[in-house]
Amino acid sequence: MNSYERLLENNKSWAGEKIKVDPGFFDRLVNVQKPDFLWIGCSDSRVPPDQITQTQPGEIFIHRNIANMVIHTDLNVLSVLEYSVNVLKVNHIIVCGHYGCGGVKAAFQQHSLGLINKWLRNIKDVYRFHQDEIRAIPNEEGRLNKLIELNVKEQLMNVAKTSIVQKAWKDREAPHLHGWVYDLHDGIIKPIFEMRAGEHFDPLYEFDNL
Ligand code: CO
Repeated sequence: MNSYERLLENNKSWAGEKIKVDPGFFDRLVNVQKPDFLWIGCSDSRVPPDQITQTQPGEIFIHRNIANMVIHTDLNVLSVLEYSVNVLKVNHIIVCGHYGCGGVKAAFQQHSLGLINKWLRNIKDVYRFHQDEIRAIPNEEGRLNKLIELNVKEQLMNVAKTSIVQKAWKDREAPHLHGWVYDLHDGIIKPIFEMRAGEHFDPLYEFDNL
C-alpha cells in the first residue's frame, strides 16, 4: 500500500466510526458551521489543533502558516480573520506558537534561505523590538524560547491592530484574544498573553472612527 492510501483507508474507517457512535454527526454539520474559535497556528505537523485540544469538526476555524504569523499584507490570513470575525462571529481568537519552531529558528540565524527570507524577516523584526530582553537570557535555548513567546505576543497584537477586530470589539465586545505556546516535550499548551475585547494598547494603532 502506498503511504497516501493509508490516509484514504483511515478516512473511511473514521467516517464509519463517527456514524456508528453518533448517526446524526455529519447531517448536523452539512449546512452550518458555527465555530467559537479561530486558531492561527504553525504549519508544523506536530501541532495539530484539533487533536491537541480534543475538539471536533465544526468547533475551530483554522489558519496555519510557517511560525503562526499575522502579517498585514497577507490576504490569506486577513481573509480568514475577516470571515471568522464578521460572518462566523467567533468569540475567541487563539494564536498558538510552539517551542522548537523551525520557522523561528530559521529566522534566528544568518543564512539566506531563499523566498522564505521575506517571511522570516517579520520574526527578525520581533527580535529587534525585544532584543534587550532576549539577549539577557544566558543560554541559546532560553533565548529561542523567549523569541517564540514574544513572537506569539506580537502576532496577537497584530490581530488586535486590524480594523476587523477593533470594529468587532466596538460592535459586540468580542472576540477575546489568546496567545498560547505548545510544548512538543509534554504536549501541554501554556497560555502566555491575553487581550480582552476592547482592551487598550498603543493608541497610535487604535482607530477612532470605526
Ligand atoms: Co513552527
